[in-house]
Amino acid sequence: MFTRFRTASAILLGASMLFGLAQTAKADDKKNESLFKSVYSEYKSGKITIEGDHAAVTELIIKRDIPVTYEYIAQLMRAPNAFGAGPACIVCHGSTDPKTSYRGLNLSTCEGIMTGATEEPARRIVVAGAPNKSMIRRMIRNNRMPLGVSFAYPTDTPEINAVKDWINAGGKDDAAGKKIIALFKKPGAFGTEQACVDCHMSNEEPPSFHELDLTSIKGMMKGADSIANAKLGKPATPVVIPGNAADSPLYQRLVENRMPPGIDPGEDRDHPNTQLLLHWIKQGAKCN
Ligand code: HEC
Ligand code: HEC
Repeated sequence: MFTRFRTASAILLGASMLFGLAQTAKADDKKNESLFKSVYSEYKSGKITIEGDHAAVTELIIKRDIPVTYEYIAQLMRAPNAFGAGPACIVCHGSTDPKTSYRGLNLSTCEGIMTGATEEPARRIVVAGAPNKSMIRRMIRNNRMPLGVSFAYPTDTPEINAVKDWINAGGKDDAAGKKIIALFKKPGAFGTEQACVDCHMSNEEPPSFHELDLTSIKGMMKGADSIANAKLGKPATPVVIPGNAADSPLYQRLVENRMPPGIDPGEDRDHPNTQLLLHWIKQGAKCN
């Protein structure tokens, strides 16, 4: 009886040890599994779908956190049409000399990218680890407003300066603020026949782009995407940072031209190469 019990428990112990070993082996397998095998099994089980350039970049590179190398970024800066139709970045930003390179911005070396614009006001365009704080993100993704305004339209008109001064003075619901709203309602005030409120008339999209309401100061202060962001548990995107026009999307959108200049505003703002550039920044913007 006792012997039999011992035998049975020995078998059980042996079996559970084997089972344990198998489990560890399985975990090790998972850890050591090649990138391809893990993607393939997720694909086969229907967990992911890979259709089109965007999905390939998102699913296969960004989600798997594959290191984006500077070598690739260097190519992007040299390639025409890298982020949508237009000349290569380095044609216009090829050295730190403001006489031959716009804003003295040298996008032809990693050091130049990290240094940013050297002409006054000198400023960095990349914050390593923080794509959302990096100016280059805005310059590649954000269309200047009003949508379709010419690249050559001046950035220091009395109307644009009025917006800047009002924000810097605190962005209050005062006489200056009411003047701004009147400008947003006026066709032609910022260089196109359309008024801002033709496209930003309420905080719902559709019809209002980015759920941005420029018909009142209260609406403006609500920020962009209040409904869409709330669904994700996030606050609306502020467009006015009182006292700080330079950091306020409302002012940035009036003075910053999307790169390369003249790019069609309809070009994909989330181009796969834009995603890869931003991922490189997120991974620390390493130069080697
Ligand atoms: C045809 C010339 C041209 C091309 C091509 C070009 N840029 Fe520019 N870029 C300019 C000009 C002009 C300015 C300054 C005026 C402005 O900001 O609109 C500028 C400004 C910038 C700035 C702002 C720097 C600052 O501090 O003011 C960034 C960032 C930038 N470009 C990035 C790029 C990137 C990235 C590319 C490639 C996708 C690119 N540019 C392609 C002409 C060009
Ligand atoms: C023809 C339609 C149209 C007009 C006119 C227009 N916008 Fe826009 N606006 C858009 C679209 C589309 C976007 C979405 C992003 C993009 O294209 O860059 C946008 C985005 C914005 C944003 C960014 C909101 C965010 O999510 O941070 C601001 C700020 C803005 N517009 C301000 C203005 C101002 C100020 C004017 C007038 C000078 C104006 N817009 C005129 C279509 C328009």
